[in-house]
Amino acid sequence: MNEYDLLNLTYNSMEEARRQMVRLLEERSRTYSLPRPLYNDPLLFRIDMEEVFEKEWLFVGMTCELPAKGDYMTVEIGQNPVLIVRDRDGEIQAFHNVCRHRGSRLCTKASGKVATLTCPYHQWTYDLKGNLIFASPEMGENFDRNEYGLKPVHCKTAGGFIFVCLRHGEPPAIDDFLSALAEYMEPYDMENTKVATESTLEEQANWKLVIENNRECYHCSGSHPELLRTLLEWDDTTDPRATPEFLEHCERQAQSWDREGIPHRHLEVGLRNRIVRMPLKEGTQVMTMDGKPACRKTLGRVQNRELGSMRILHLPNSWNHMQSDHLIVFRVLPVSAQKTLVTTKWLVHKDAVEGEDYEVERLRQVWDATNRQDRDLAEENQRGINSLGYEPGPYSETYEFGVINFLDWYAETVLNNGKQGRF
Ligand code: FES
Ligand SMILES: [Fe+2]
Repeated sequence: MNEYDLLNLTYNSMEEARRQMVRLLEERSRTYSLPRPLYNDPLLFRIDMEEVFEKEWLFVGMTCELPAKGDYMTVEIGQNPVLIVRDRDGEIQAFHNVCRHRGSRLCTKASGKVATLTCPYHQWTYDLKGNLIFASPEMGENFDRNEYGLKPVHCKTAGGFIFVCLRHGEPPAIDDFLSALAEYMEPYDMENTKVATESTLEEQANWKLVIENNRECYHCSGSHPELLRTLLEWDDTTDPRATPEFLEHCERQAQSWDREGIPHRHLEVGLRNRIVRMPLKEGTQVMTMDGKPACRKTLGRVQNRELGSMRILHLPNSWNHMQSDHLIVFRVLPVSAQKTLVTTKWLVHKDAVEGEDYEVERLRQVWDATNRQDRDLAEENQRGINSLGYEPGPYSETYEFGVINFLDWYAETVLNNGKQGRF
């Protein structure tokens, strides 16, 4: 714990922190921002990690990032290094990235390609299914390699997305969402996409402030001039801001999507998942500065360049914008009570050639600006919350309903998961 964390330590022990967590979540006003410790206390952050990030399904990356056998990526979920690899049967597997000898981290790079997995410490070697296949004779005659395979992590894929879950035993149900995701992503032929470019921002803000910021566009007109060139500030036809002209535009677009068999029906799976395809501003095609294409090739079987953006929400850690010629995926990973990593990846058709079909700068311009603006907003939000002057304030139930939904999901998840175990 660093000096800064100590300043925000509100409780004396984990037991007290757990008791207070339950009290704060049970007694909170649903339509108000959370009490301060939930945004900055290091022990409450630890509970968030234990009850949410170590128990729920998390988005980690895209299947197209591991196109061939032996391709791997690594991710740090709090203090849990996780390895995701495509095995020799072409299946994607996830393991704790921890050697079974003395626990060294096994793969130290963010991504790469391997035939087998060799620990850098004493060279124990595992195959891509996690079996220990080599440990030097020094381990003695009675050593049984079969007892020291890598520990598996739950892993599922659908529609090009990879999700992992660190929970011991049965993971939470996710199949309804995954089958919807496969159906909605089908037009994009995700195996024939690639990551054209990516960015990671380190934000000095609690992960919930990052998600809250994403769940409303009340702040958009004050902060996002680039984004608002093409994006509307609402993502539902029932939003009070939607004008009659816009609703007609929606209707026309929906008819053209139906003709091409592009899924667009609004879909919700509990509060955790939401898929919504919404048109962009009339006369624009994708989220670029001028609203014109970012890539010459459209994705998969898509022909209509006006697909709006299909927004996919997966709590607790991802939102996405799927368009006709590029896809933008976002992953949120908490580091500490007041530090969060936000990774953005821009995907295009696998055969699109940089410099000919797309320019990286043009592809990234709008969301690079938007991400920086959102980072600044989340960091300023955190600074104010840390002050003695902070007290929870009211959300707009019409413009900030997404934030209210997120916090309902969060509170319910922490309380339910905690009650099954530590609370
Ligand atoms: S810790 Fe991995 S081989 Fe020793
Ligand atoms: Fe924003």
